[in-house]
Amino acid sequence: MKPLEIKGLIIQYYVNNQWVDVVSNVDLDIDERGEILAVVGESGCGKTTLGLAVAGLLPSNAKIARGYIKVFDKDVTSTSNSIKIAMIFQDALTSLNPLLTVGEQIAEIDIHHFKMSKKKAFEEAKKRLAEVGLPTTFVSKYPHELSGGQRQRVLIAMAIAMNPELIVADEPTTALDVTTQARVLILLRDLVKKLGIPMIYITHDLALASQIADKIAVMYAGQIVEYSNKYSLFKEPKHPYTQALLSSIPRVDVDVSELHIIKGEPPTPGSFPRGCRFHPRCPLAFSKCFVEEPIPRKVSSYGYVRCHLYG
Ligand SMILES: Nc1ncnc2c1ncn2[C@@H]1O[C@H](COP(=O)(O)OP(=O)(O)O)[C@@H](O)[C@H]1O
Ligand code: SF4
Ligand SMILES: [Mg+2]
Repeated sequence: MKPLEIKGLIIQYYVNNQWVDVVSNVDLDIDERGEILAVVGESGCGKTTLGLAVAGLLPSNAKIARGYIKVFDKDVTSTSNSIKIAMIFQDALTSLNPLLTVGEQIAEIDIHHFKMSKKKAFEEAKKRLAEVGLPTTFVSKYPHELSGGQRQRVLIAMAIAMNPELIVADEPTTALDVTTQARVLILLRDLVKKLGIPMIYITHDLALASQIADKIAVMYAGQIVEYSNKYSLFKEPKHPYTQALLSSIPRVDVDVSELHIIKGEPPTPGSFPRGCRFHPRCPLAFSKCFVEEPIPRKVSSYGYVRCHLYG
């Protein structure tokens, strides 16, 4: 039983009186508890839509048009399955209730999910705070009294308190400064590893993904263009888009003026180009790329790449 299995997933939004594909034919999986899968791609490529679908939180104008998402063999779209999936969002301030103390919000989860007494739930909340590296006295603080990094830690504590089968973290550190970002990232990684919770980590930042993930899925215009374990992806990136993303990561030994920034803008849903969706920006595009859509090709024991250069 895999913690996560996504097959042939197509998600559409209803916009301007028609259904348009936003996520197309996505196949992904998490093989074991505590495994972290990062989904990486530029803004607008469909990462959040994919994450919301996994968490069963798609907006009302969205639908899963084909394929399935299973968490421990249970279909997330079936209302008869109760699956506990915790979602951690980027913006902690809007995810937290400004009128309740941190302690009340964490305790609420134990009271609601586990029918715990109020007193016991408060004691648990203190333990949760300690677990995410915050002083236990924070139980009586309000969200606005905390820094961005501290609020993000509270969200992590709340996610863990649910005892979830899966965590979906959507750019949880994007709003933080670089140092705080690194600390929160390491905390999250260590916790899910220790507790054996599988996690999807969504980010636009390939460097961040490399710090936290076991496997990386590179997303472009609603499709996964390369899917691999972290080490092979960094050692031998196959898809031209992955190669471009990698070469745009700032390195201490490379002058900023030498950075390769990918030219052009990614296409938007409803106007994905014919053939390979990356062809207008691909330095290696050839005739076939303009007319034929590449299909995913297996390139390792489980990974795949979606590019005509590979068969
Ligand atoms: N509720 C919605 N209705 C219609 N289109 C949407 C909705 N939410 C997002 N989109 C569009 O779907 C595409 C993917 O968005 P999103 O999943 O948020 O991407 P990402 O998280 O990678 O930035 C974008 O073009 C976005 O404008
Ligand atoms: S299929 Fe063609 S256009 Fe697309 S990434 Fe591969 S080489 Fe580039
Ligand atoms: Mg997003």
